[in-house]
Amino acid sequence: METTLAIVKPDGVRRGLIGEILRRYENKGLRLKAAKIITPTIELLEKHYEEHKGKPYYEPLIKYMSSGPVFAMVLEGENAVTLVRLLNGATKVEEALPGTIRGDFASQTTYNIIHGSDSIESAKREIALWFPELA
Ligand code: TYD
Ligand code: MG
Repeated sequence: METTLAIVKPDGVRRGLIGEILRRYENKGLRLKAAKIITPTIELLEKHYEEHKGKPYYEPLIKYMSSGPVFAMVLEGENAVTLVRLLNGATKVEEALPGTIRGDFASQTTYNIIHGSDSIESAKREIALWFPELA
C-alpha cells in the first residue's frame, strides 16, 4: 500500500484549516497513519527542500515554513501520492483550480497552504525525515 507525506503549512494551521484539509483526504478514502504538530527546524526544512536550494523563492520558503507550527501527516491508500497532489491542486495559485485545497484556500504561491510528496521515492525520503520514529 502506498504512503505519502502531506503538511499543512503555517498559514493553514493559523487559519484553522487542519480539520477541513484532513476531511478532504479522508473523504477521498485515504487513511491517516501518523500525524504531529511541530514547528520545523531550519535544518529539517533545508533537507526537506534541498532540491530547491538556490531558487529565488527558496529563502522566503524556508523562513515561512519555520514561522510557526505545521501539521505533518502520513497518509496511506492506493495511489496516495497522486491523490494527495490532485486534491492539493497546482503549485502556482493562479493555476490551482477551485475545488482543490490550494484553489479554495490559497491566494499566494509562497503561502500555498499545503505540501504533498511528488513521487513514491520523495514520499519515502520525506516520511523518514519528518517521522524518523516510524522507521
Ligand atoms: P514545488 O516543489 O515546485 O511545488 P509543490 O509544493 O507543489 O511540490 O515547490 C515547493 C514550494 O516552493 C511550493 O509549494 C511553494 C514554493 N514555490 C514558490 O514560492 N514559488 C515558485 O515559483 C515555486 C515553483 C515554488
Ligand atoms: Mg514539491
